[in-house]
Amino acid sequence: MPLNPFPDSIEKNTLRRRDAIALRSFKTLVGAPLTYCGLTSAEARDIVIWRESLSSVCAVEIDDATRSNLHINWRQLNVGLPLKVIAGDIFNYLQAADTPCYDVYNLDMYGGFTYSRKSNSSPCRDAVRSLCARHRQEKRSFALLSTFNVRDTGVEQYDALLGEIKLCLEGLEGIDPNLKEHGRTHATKIKLCYMYMCWHAGQTHDFHVEFADPIFYNSGKTNLVHFYSEFRFRSQALPTPHADRDRLVQLATTPLRKMSGRISSIELRPTSIVKPSA
Ligand SMILES: C[S@@+](CC[C@H](N)C(=O)[O-])C[C@H]1O[C@@H](n2cnc3c(N)ncnc32)[C@H](O)[C@@H]1O
Repeated sequence: MPLNPFPDSIEKNTLRRRDAIALRSFKTLVGAPLTYCGLTSAEARDIVIWRESLSSVCAVEIDDATRSNLHINWRQLNVGLPLKVIAGDIFNYLQAADTPCYDVYNLDMYGGFTYSRKSNSSPCRDAVRSLCARHRQEKRSFALLSTFNVRDTGVEQYDALLGEIKLCLEGLEGIDPNLKEHGRTHATKIKLCYMYMCWHAGQTHDFHVEFADPIFYNSGKTNLVHFYSEFRFRSQALPTPHADRDRLVQLATTPLRKMSGRISSIELRPTSIVKPSA
């Protein structure tokens, strides 16, 4: 069977299994097996573990050889789900006007969250906004899984996002030490900035965004941060992002966990943020 062009690890597989449990509950919430769109790579290991919660697979793959290997493997894996394969960049696909809604998106790309293209924008952030707008039109919830390499460039964009968060939470106690802790490493910056970006995009489009604790882990020689989130559509408009500081406070005080083997520990427990005492 042709192999994936990247290393696997116990940690990565443990996370696939953790997410399988979350997706089973999400399937119950949605009321039907889930349509998947994402990066399966050649071996579709995520699909093999999640298959009981899925009804179809749309695999997006930028690499020609990996796409052809996926076709070969799919026959052997015998997962019993319909497969559609899209050639190209997943961020372009998610932003295209004729892309349909799916229930689960797996952005497992080993790439960065904020990195500058020529336009100096983040393709991931643009894609999440597109997803929110499309799903809002259909009043449809979705699960979003993302895994980011922590060696990417674009650190200055994280600092800009941390500045935005500081403005939102101005006047609360604990915000300075909390943001200092989040500013310490690339992984802690991604943790808060990605959650903030999802919360902001979700809130603006009437989604309540729930997160599992994000996980920092190592796979091969690469350090990664992994997120599982659910964007739950609310038919009543939510408060504007600025008016819902309590939720942002919860995200800023969510711990970053670290996975070593199958054992999870706390990598960062951020300082609490509270209203100033009178
Ligand atoms: C880490 S693997 C996915 C692993 C898979 N989810 C699993 O659980 O085993 C990432 C795959 O996405 C492809 N890829 C990376 N960036 C991409 C992009 N922007 N658009 C489409 N495919 C991409 C890579 O070629 C690779 O095959």
